[in-house]
Amino acid sequence: KRIVVLYGGRADEHSISCISTAGVLNALDADRFEAVPVGITKDGKWIVDGEDPRGWNLDGGALPTVERTAGARDVVLDVARGQDGFFARNADGTLEPFGHVDAVFPVLHGPYGEDGTVQGLLEMMDVPYVGCGVFASAACMDKHYTKVVLNAAGISTAPGVMVDARSVRPEEALERVAEAGLAYPLFVKPSRAGSSFGVTKVEEADSPEAQASQLGAAIAEAGRHDWKVLIEQGIDGREIECAVLAAAPGDEPEASWPGEIVLDHQDDDQFYDFDSKYMDASASHVEVPADLPVSVLEDVRDVARRAFVAVDGAGLSRVDTFVTADGTVMVNEINTMPGFTPISMYPKAWDATGVSYTALITRLIEGVLR
Ligand code: DAL
Ligand code: MG
Repeated sequence: KRIVVLYGGRADEHSISCISTAGVLNALDADRFEAVPVGITKDGKWIVDGEDPRGWNLDGGALPTVERTAGARDVVLDVARGQDGFFARNADGTLEPFGHVDAVFPVLHGPYGEDGTVQGLLEMMDVPYVGCGVFASAACMDKHYTKVVLNAAGISTAPGVMVDARSVRPEEALERVAEAGLAYPLFVKPSRAGSSFGVTKVEEADSPEAQASQLGAAIAEAGRHDWKVLIEQGIDGREIECAVLAAAPGDEPEASWPGEIVLDHQDDDQFYDFDSKYMDASASHVEVPADLPVSVLEDVRDVARRAFVAVDGAGLSRVDTFVTADGTVMVNEINTMPGFTPISMYPKAWDATGVSYTALITRLIEGVLR
C-alpha cells in the first residue's frame, strides 16, 4: 500500500512535525507500506525528493526544516483524480504520477495541518487519511472553541477568557479577568498554536498598573502567534495525558493508560515550555501509567474518551488533562495530531498499554484503507 506522509508545514511547529515524521518513517512496517514522504516548506510549498527525513533528530540541538533542495520536485495535485491525483513536476515541466495513493498520513502539527485545512483538501480529493476530520481538527486547534464544545458536553476545562490581541487594551483585559473571577497565576496563550509557543505565565502583581502591564506584555507575546488570545486560570494540579485511538471509522474509542511528563530538575518558576519539551532531552521523561490511584487513572480515561467523542474525534488524539489534589479531572487541550516521535507521550502511552510503536502506526493506517 502506498502511503503519502505529509510533514513540515506552515505552522510554528514545523520542525516538531519533521521529528515526528522521522520516527514514523523509521518505524513504518516496510512489508506492508511504501511511504512517499511529501514535505511542506514553511512558506507552504509541497515537495518530493527533498532531504530524507529519516535521519532527522534533535541530538545536535538544531531544528530540521523542509527546504526546496536542488533535487526536490514540486508536488502537483489534481483534485478531480482523487487517489491517482498526486504528481511530481519534472525540471522540463512534465508531470510524473506517484501512482495510486492508498492513504495520506498527515504528520503535521499546528495550523495548516492539524486544524482541518489539510483535512478539507483531502476530503475534496476523496483520499483516505489518518486522523481527525475537518470539524474535530478545527475545534481542537482552537483552544477557545475546544472549551465551548467540551463544556457543552459537561466536561470541565480550566476557566478562561478570550481576547483579541489586535484591539484589547491591557486594562480591559484585566477587567475581563476580574469579571470572570480568574485566580492567579494566569496562563496567557495563543488560541491556535501548540508546543507552548507564545505561552506566558502571569503571576499576581503588587498593583493594578503592574498587573495590567504584565498582562499586556503576555497578550502581545501570544498575539505574535495568533490574534485570538486565551487568558486561563492556572490550575493547581498535575498534567496527565491520555492517548485515545479509534483507528477505523465507527470504532469505539480506546484510551491508553494515562501518563505524566516528569520534570527531572524541579524549578517552581518554570513551566514545561518549548525548550524543556524539545531542546533538552534530559529535562523530563514520560511516565506511564502516571503515579496516581487506579480509580483516578480510570476517571482520566473516561474523560478522555468522552472528550474525544464530544469533539467528533476520529483516528487518534492525545487528551491533556489537569488532575487536582481532590481527584477532579479537567481537560486542558486535545491534540488531534500529537507529537509522534518514539519518545513522545502518545506512542509511549500506547506502548505501555500493549500496542507497540510500529503496531500503532499500522493500525492507524489500516483503519482508513478502503
Ligand atoms: N503540539 C505537540 C506536537 C503535541 O501536542 O504533542
Ligand atoms: Mg498542542
